[in-house]
Amino acid sequence: MAVLVAGGAGYIGSHISIELLNNNKEVVIVDSLMNSNEDVIKNIENITNKKVKFYSLNMINEDELEKVFKDNNIESVIHLAGLKAVGESVKKPLEYYYNNLVITLNLLRIMKKYNCNKFVFSSSATVYGQPKTVPIKEDFPLSTTNPYGTTKLMIERILKDLYNSDNSFRIVMLRYFNPIGAHESGLIGENPNGIPNNLMPYITSVASGKLEVLNIFGNDYNTKDGTGVRDYIHVVDLAKGHIKALEKIEKDDGIFVYNLGSGRGYSVLELVNTFEKVNNVKVNYKFTDRRPGDIAECYADISKAEKELNWKPTKTLEDMCRDSWNFIKNSK
Ligand code: UFG
Repeated sequence: MAVLVAGGAGYIGSHISIELLNNNKEVVIVDSLMNSNEDVIKNIENITNKKVKFYSLNMINEDELEKVFKDNNIESVIHLAGLKAVGESVKKPLEYYYNNLVITLNLLRIMKKYNCNKFVFSSSATVYGQPKTVPIKEDFPLSTTNPYGTTKLMIERILKDLYNSDNSFRIVMLRYFNPIGAHESGLIGENPNGIPNNLMPYITSVASGKLEVLNIFGNDYNTKDGTGVRDYIHVVDLAKGHIKALEKIEKDDGIFVYNLGSGRGYSVLELVNTFEKVNNVKVNYKFTDRRPGDIAECYADISKAEKELNWKPTKTLEDMCRDSWNFIKNSK
């Protein structure tokens, strides 16, 4: 009996695969390698001293994906595959809707055919749109501001409809806040191609001299120091949340939704200052205009996940900054 990790060679998927192997699960990874490479699979095996079965394929191809279910006894699926750049999704909406929706539909249709009924979906805090208050709870109103976010929300709705039509499905939707950090080995982490969109990879690129200066998008927000506030969570804590989500649906029937964050809000400046301090490096920055679509403050109420999943993040902001930098130094 194996767990299929769709998108398992990516930044978050690779950390989840490590946690699954550490919990003695058999792991099958499917990944298009669009945003990663096969070395990640070797590193997962080196870290855990265990083997994974890897398929390099694009899930748009239903026949190839079905072969994975034919060849293996897949008991449950963790689905993280998809296009994920917010800005790009505004420019290429058709690509985002086609890719993210069709691969998910292919996966669910094949699961139904093979009587595989346990599904964990990687959703996002982006489904809360512009929240009126913080901390954000799971029952807050949902809306989106870009096509990427809309694909996440549409998939959540598809999953609800699927469950209503067939309650043998057991589903968990996990709404991630801002994952950063890396595996403590320094072998697995986030190192996107090209100019990074997100804050931490931008910070590490400036610290390593790849980019000259970090643009801090706005210092006139109504926050503690004027810069944007987000809920950063260590990717290993996030990955552990998936193990707990699987345990939940191994035990209970139903469809569930949880926020996965640290439950704390940190400003851009706090993150930059902590990064500089724990790593003893300089990050040049300047203030620029606000980034269109950004909100002032976004952090999670994580009490539902703490209570129902028996999960609690344990890593500090210092750990996150240290591990992010350790991975970059190690991969140079
Ligand atoms: N920021 C900068 N400069 C940069 C990049 C970011 O100042 O170069 C600031 C942003 O304005 C924001 C904070 O850093 O205040 C975090 O920005 P990120 O781009 O790292 O993350 P976001 O919170 O904007 O977006 C993330 C994910 C999305 C997801 C969203 C859900 O990247 O995929 O959280 O809340 F949809």
